[in-house]
Amino acid sequence: MSLSAPSFEFSLAGQKLTAHTGILELMDDLGRAMTVAPHMRMLGGGNPAAVPGLQSLVRERMGELMADGDAFERMLVSYDPPQGNPRFLRALAELLQRTYGWNIGPQNLAVTGGGQSAFFFLFNLLAGRFGGGRRKKILLPLAPEYIGYADQGLEPDLFVACRPVIEWPQGHDAKVFKYTIDFAAVERALVRGDIGAIAASRPTNPTGNVVTDAEVARLSALALAHGIPLILDNAYGTPFPDVMFVPAKPFWAPHVILTLSLSKLGLPGTRTGIVIAPEKIASAIASLTAVVGLANNNIGQQIVLPWIENGKILELGPKILRPFYAEKAAAAARWAREYFDPAGLDWALHATEGAFFHWLWLKHLRIPTRELYARLKARNVLTVPGEYFFFGLEEEWSHQHECLRMNFSREPEVVREGYRLIAEEAAKASA
Ligand SMILES: Cc1ncc(COP(=O)(O)O)c(C=O)c1O
Repeated sequence: MSLSAPSFEFSLAGQKLTAHTGILELMDDLGRAMTVAPHMRMLGGGNPAAVPGLQSLVRERMGELMADGDAFERMLVSYDPPQGNPRFLRALAELLQRTYGWNIGPQNLAVTGGGQSAFFFLFNLLAGRFGGGRRKKILLPLAPEYIGYADQGLEPDLFVACRPVIEWPQGHDAKVFKYTIDFAAVERALVRGDIGAIAASRPTNPTGNVVTDAEVARLSALALAHGIPLILDNAYGTPFPDVMFVPAKPFWAPHVILTLSLSKLGLPGTRTGIVIAPEKIASAIASLTAVVGLANNNIGQQIVLPWIENGKILELGPKILRPFYAEKAAAAARWAREYFDPAGLDWALHATEGAFFHWLWLKHLRIPTRELYARLKARNVLTVPGEYFFFGLEEEWSHQHECLRMNFSREPEVVREGYRLIAEEAAKASA
């Protein structure tokens, strides 16, 4: 009998999750640029900036944790329960209750390994295959939507997405557009009867759009009327980290699942996500954490614990992060004008209402942005092509090949040179 090499055949779910995914390419590019390819101008990825005011607070807090034996043990030497550290959960529930009047307790919260894991759990709990041969999907009311969701389904075709309405709040000449939700399209999708949950990121990655309070209220009412949850992904928004440049109220209701994360506060390395949800959902998330990873990383929870207990966490965004990123956004918008106009491009940026991205619309591009991305990468500028963010649309839309996402939070000289090279390459590829 001859021994042949094992074929390592993967299950269907295994094949689906290990296919060449957009998020893998994105994180690979990002990881390389941050480590072995430092010459790359890194306008891709969603890495937060090293914000000095925030970093000094974290360093100080790490010093306290190292000096205090009990805290050090809580941070590194013990497993937390899978739902999260009990003191952390209690403090956060109390903070949200007293600040916003939300009727929640620790039983409504669950910690996860970053928001990304929370979404893997939530989407596969609420959509996919159900008893009696039924299938359910996640409805994204406003495409483009976060690339990181696209490949999370254990089952194929987990999403159905709606095209937005495109508005020009300051007129076309201002070159600033805003997507708003096409509620007629959302209602048409809901009456199909196969929607397990509605989900939206707020602010939205990739565009920096903040779905308005009125839009959130309407989505919430629609979800309630259809007996399904509304999932709001608050990776960048309020109550924290609050990297938002327009007013928007934090929102939770008993049929709403709100996810928070410590990543964009400046602690992505701690991998800490938080789900605020009906008790049944929060405890399902804890069960999944136990199965997949026993418990969560304790470090992020211990770093921010005093700021949750004294409420300071709600001030970090408005006082430290927002001014920092607002200045970055304004500088990058100036460079867009400085380079894109003289290059003869027909361009516009989405209104920068939150997060740290510019979403550039290049209307007369002769090539898809997938190709523009490759040409830019060859010139050491990393961006993310728009095509990745339109998953779930049932019909092809030319707009999805005309947009590019740039992270503007890196060093000024990197962003400026990046925008200059984008103008040059886009001009070569425009009609
Ligand atoms: C909209 C959105 N949601 C969720 C995440 C996941 O982040 P993390 O897993 O670091 O919390 C990100 C990260 O970029 C994001 O942009």
